[in-house]
Amino acid sequence: MAMKRAAASAVRAFTSSGNFASSSVLSRGLHHPQKMFRLLIRRYLGNFLGCAENALGIREWLESQGHQYIVTPDKDGPHCELEKHIPDLHVLITTPFHPAYVTAERIKKAKNLQLLLTAGIGSDHIDLKAAADAGLTVAEVTGSNVVSVAEDELMRILILVRNFLPGHHQVITGDWNVAAIAYRAYDLEGKTVGTVGAGRIGRLLLQRLKPFNCNLLYHDRLKMDPELESQIGAKFEENLDEMLPKCDIIVINMPLTEKTKGMFDKKKIAKLKKGVLIVNNARGAIMDTQAVVDACSSGHIAGYSGDVWYPQPAPKDHPWRYMPNQAMTPHISGTTIDAQLRYAAGVKDMLEKYFKGDDFPPQHYIVKDGELASQYR
Ligand SMILES: NC(=O)c1ccc[n+]([C@@H]2O[C@H](COP(=O)([O-])OP(=O)(O)OC[C@H]3O[C@@H](n4cnc5c(N)ncnc54)[C@H](O)[C@@H]3O)[C@@H](O)[C@H]2O)c1
Repeated sequence: MAMKRAAASAVRAFTSSGNFASSSVLSRGLHHPQKMFRLLIRRYLGNFLGCAENALGIREWLESQGHQYIVTPDKDGPHCELEKHIPDLHVLITTPFHPAYVTAERIKKAKNLQLLLTAGIGSDHIDLKAAADAGLTVAEVTGSNVVSVAEDELMRILILVRNFLPGHHQVITGDWNVAAIAYRAYDLEGKTVGTVGAGRIGRLLLQRLKPFNCNLLYHDRLKMDPELESQIGAKFEENLDEMLPKCDIIVINMPLTEKTKGMFDKKKIAKLKKGVLIVNNARGAIMDTQAVVDACSSGHIAGYSGDVWYPQPAPKDHPWRYMPNQAMTPHISGTTIDAQLRYAAGVKDMLEKYFKGDDFPPQHYIVKDGELASQYR
């Protein structure tokens, strides 16, 4: 219903993604003018839809319908391009990789805004409560990059377990010191791996880990159905604090919400096995930044890898850049070319539905009719 109301009135949109620019759509001469804005990344390939130049591949389509589509990477600070367009936007599209932070203050200024689309998964860059209070719809392309992230997590687990990065570094620096690598390189087989969150990504990771003959555990708000659980071969741990000390490797796979923000603080990290490896491609702010630095420095965490930080882009002095035993990257796991094709198609599909006044697939909604999706409440 909210979508129908939205489409019946004037609409503008604004999108953002990676180094990824922001874009907005503003229609001219239509009954229902649209303005959108999005944030994108730089161009490398024809299929690199997430870049500013390629603009999710929807510019021609939007402009042919008379909408104005503004794309920019300039979205931080009071004088950025995004701020200039905020009062006019009808739709704002952003990727989570280089997000446009949609604060309560920005929502207040966005008098025409109706729809916030995330070109990917994870809408924590938006003040969801403020969006709900303002009657905005927030939706993401649920499922679009889950395979990309699960594959990346498997890679990060192996990189940490095998102590791969220092070995690679030796090659670059002209060294050859096998002992310096091998003294802390292990097989993955036989290790206990626990995922905190076993939704779409967590389950795909567990499925991919099964052939490695690990002991697989998962903690989630919800227990899987028994058939799926036995197929995946993972054991449910209702109590997170009981699962943590059992794990050699912990992978974070839940959203950033009021409940999960800062969940891995000093106290929680103290419950982990000494020498634990952690992979976090979920969200940086689930961890207490300094607690992770301290535990990596003391060796309590023997390796930390992930692609998510707070804030993003990570400032040059972010302490995770300098802590020992890290294998961090910029936010890249969910934006392979395959993922870009899927999230770009998902954004187009939702815009088509929005213009027609149709509902989106129910799993795409994060905020609808003033209500947050259940795991964000
Ligand atoms: N790095 C990337 O490029 C990238 C890409 C996609 C998603 N993500 C992140 O990964 C997260 C998970 O994605 P998904 O597609 O698997 O989502 P999902 O909704 O399918 O799964 C999330 C799981 O977390 C569980 N959960 C929620 N709150 C919890 C809590 N307080 N305690 C325990 N479990 C809880 C849910 O029950 C659910 O099973 C996203 O929210 C996003 O932040 C990152």
